[in-house]
Amino acid sequence: MATPDLLIVGSGLFGLTIAERAVTQHGAKVTIIDRRDHLGGNAYSERDEATGIEIHKYGAHLFHTSNTRVWEYVRGFTDFTGYQHKVYTNHRGVVFPMPINLGTINQFFQSALTPDQARALVAEQAGELAGTDPENLDEKGISLIGRPLYEAFIKNYTGKQWQTDPKDLPASIISRLPVRYTYDNRYFNDTYEGLPAQGYTAWLERMADHPSIDVQLSTDFFDESQPWNKEAVRGRIPVVYTGPIDRYFDFSEGTLGWRTIDLETEHLDVGDFQGTSVMNYADAEVPYTRIIEPRHFHPERDYPRDRTVIQREYSRFAQSGDEPYYPINSTSDRETLLAYRALADAEPRTLFGGRLGTYQYLDMHMAIGSALSMADNKLADLLRA
Ligand code: FDA
Repeated sequence: MATPDLLIVGSGLFGLTIAERAVTQHGAKVTIIDRRDHLGGNAYSERDEATGIEIHKYGAHLFHTSNTRVWEYVRGFTDFTGYQHKVYTNHRGVVFPMPINLGTINQFFQSALTPDQARALVAEQAGELAGTDPENLDEKGISLIGRPLYEAFIKNYTGKQWQTDPKDLPASIISRLPVRYTYDNRYFNDTYEGLPAQGYTAWLERMADHPSIDVQLSTDFFDESQPWNKEAVRGRIPVVYTGPIDRYFDFSEGTLGWRTIDLETEHLDVGDFQGTSVMNYADAEVPYTRIIEPRHFHPERDYPRDRTVIQREYSRFAQSGDEPYYPINSTSDRETLLAYRALADAEPRTLFGGRLGTYQYLDMHMAIGSALSMADNKLADLLRA
């Protein structure tokens, strides 16, 4: 097996972008390994056998960006539909538009307030704790948008996400709670938005479709029985590593904390379960945070009209062996990360990137943007080293 010019650990959007840049800009030969049996990382999707509906295997993925370079780059691999994401939330059996906007406020208070009147009402209700420093998430939420809206839409939803009473969560988890004083309920404010027209996997596979890119699946970097393992390549071959940074260093500085999600899939004999792609459940009594109905991501497709598939999403702290999804980022996590960053800086011929390699929540456009910057600024030196 020929030795590559660059080994990439992880075939998510970060690794794929680096691979594509390395072959097209530097003429490098690249091997990508991934421990999963498919490429694409968490953006991977697959066709549901029973219905033909495209399912986002690791949770709903909506592409949006205001970064023109990233938008031009990704459109080299896929067309995008005109999908615009909108979210609704069920509170005590009534459905409201999210994020909180004039429609939510007027429906909640059974009113017809103008933008200025709504702003004044929220400011008055947020004044309840005026002059005090919020000591926990509850107090912070009330001081930002007032008790009625906070308790209805934010408190229990956030409590479910963190499996913790918001009174016991630090105020720092939220810095702002956006309220729109218009009826605009588009979820994202970005300039560009859409979903890959032929699906995520077609897009991701196209990024790796080059004779100089060799993808090896079901191949773990830490498995010493496969040739591209850490001990064999360290210091010998340039590596871009996008797996968990604490795992790379054998957890020597401690374990970084993550939250994960569980998805419970159900097939139903109805053509449309909820009329929209994402319905949040704001109340504590409902154990899941939201229900995703993937057929609504592609209204332009000819999906069956008598069957659908839904995914109930539950949030919890990740245990060892779970998929790490959202960094917890506690004070001790941040200290641990600094220790790992110092080790990473001293690591010969290895660059760390992506959401696991940097312990950062990155949207897809951020992962791609950060890989493009690494390719601009560091790849030539890494390949020369
Ligand atoms: P990613 O995790 O995708 O890829 C890393 C790869 O490394 C994985 O394939 C893994 O198997 C592999 N790997 C790890 N350890 C390895 C080892 N030891 N050996 C070999 N391979 C190894 N973004 C967005 O823009 N809009 C959205 O709506 C969402 N929604 C969303 C929902 C959920 C539930 C999550 C968790 C994330 C999102 N995202 C998102 C974020 C999006 O998933 C993220 O931006 C990309 O996955 C980042 O790509 P990476 O390549 O950094 O990581």
